[in-house]
Amino acid sequence: MSSTFYITTPIYYVNARPHLGHAYTTIVADSLRRFHTLLGEDTWFLTGTDEHGDKIVKAAEAAGQTPQEFVDGISGQFQALWPKLGIKHDQFIRTTDADHKARVQAFLQKVYDNGDIYFGEHGGHYCTGCERFYTEKELENGLCPQHLTKPDFIQEKNYFFRMSKYLPWLAGHIRENPDFIRPERYRNEALAMLEGGVLEDLCISRPKSRLTWGIELPFDKDYVSYVWFDALANYITALGWPDNENDESGNYRKYWPGEHLVAKDILKPHGIFWPTMLMAAGLPLYKHLNVHGYWLVKDTKMSKSLGNVVDPLKAAEHFGLDAFRYFLLREMNFGSDASYSPEAIITACAIKCIGGNMQCKLWPRNDEDREKCKEKGMDVNKVLHLNDLVKSENVFFAATGVTDGDWLRGVRYTGDGIETSSLVMRAKSGTLRYINAVHNVQKLDEISSIKYGAQNNQAYFL
Ligand code: ME8
Ligand code: MG
Repeated sequence: MSSTFYITTPIYYVNARPHLGHAYTTIVADSLRRFHTLLGEDTWFLTGTDEHGDKIVKAAEAAGQTPQEFVDGISGQFQALWPKLGIKHDQFIRTTDADHKARVQAFLQKVYDNGDIYFGEHGGHYCTGCERFYTEKELENGLCPQHLTKPDFIQEKNYFFRMSKYLPWLAGHIRENPDFIRPERYRNEALAMLEGGVLEDLCISRPKSRLTWGIELPFDKDYVSYVWFDALANYITALGWPDNENDESGNYRKYWPGEHLVAKDILKPHGIFWPTMLMAAGLPLYKHLNVHGYWLVKDTKMSKSLGNVVDPLKAAEHFGLDAFRYFLLREMNFGSDASYSPEAIITACAIKCIGGNMQCKLWPRNDEDREKCKEKGMDVNKVLHLNDLVKSENVFFAATGVTDGDWLRGVRYTGDGIETSSLVMRAKSGTLRYINAVHNVQKLDEISSIKYGAQNNQAYFL
């Protein structure tokens, strides 16, 4: 049996239109998937939308629509965008899908039957932006540290997941499996959360008197499921769990456990809640959680709540899709933050072409950008657009050089290839560092030649 590779993105909230941050994660997932397909693996790439909860209801109200009309509209925008960015996912899940809802109920019932869900009273500071309760200790000057807004204090009877029971076990698992959460800084962050003593049992219900837009608890019709419990389960409900749990040829048995890609904003639900949920349901944990940093605009996180978002489609149209994807994958060192600006795209795309033995650079097409390149001292006559370069050169290797003597960032292009794929390199330490785009690669040996091409190359392929 060939090995399998299952990669997921977060399922994005449908409270606002897709932006560059969402596009980045989804392009990384697409690139990883293409690379693993080239390795001959049986791959599955899942993305989707997260459609329940207070936050969505509020956004729908603000738009003067019913929640269902509203989520259909925005989910549709995500679905329409991905193919335009060259993304080929295998599956798009919506948490309002009937199958997903029934499967989440089965998940909840299983954890309930195992004795890990109990009924209790709880008071806490609820941030709608995060869709979660904060403890006093976690607030900064009484405000949510992510949204800088004052959470609502809510006291009510709810169902709780006995998460605390699994935390010591999880800490052990993270310590014993250094690449379970990577890069290392996020593994350390997860361990710090576990060791910090602030984690409690998780409130996993909302009374219908306060919120009806959710999945009804199978054991109490007066409550709906907490949105994160519903959302995290998507990674296995999409594969058909539990309906096909015993079917060898079904997607669940084929692809689970897989690996997840997220940004650091949702490290806690993915690094803490989800593994403990899986443990409580008696299911295998995911293989890896890959955590990246934020795209910043002028030192501030790009986010819909801050209103400083970049439209990925407009950027791709302006710079060319290949150049745009290339820039995103190259500019951000996986795990760290990176800054987005049109100038940064131009600089990043000024690459040396080694294969043609010439000093050519690539850049966006229009006059304004041409001027910017001139200002940067580039020889405009030798500057090409990546899309044109791919078409005009038969085979060449474009590398951005070996950094610090032991890193390679490279991309190889063949002019007549059809497939677009990605090259992924890891440091010897096992940290996922660079993910670069390889476009138009037809055969795997074209990629592996990069291995020979690099001096002191301590990178290897995932
Ligand atoms: O959190 N830089 O959805 P969400 C990089 N529904 N990536 C960014 C980014 C930025 N500035 N902004 C957003 C949710 N992202 C939940 C997830 S999963 C079971 C449920 C990307 O719409 C990044 O992948 O807020 C981040 O983790 C995700 O969008 C958050 O999307
Ligand atoms: Mg968010």
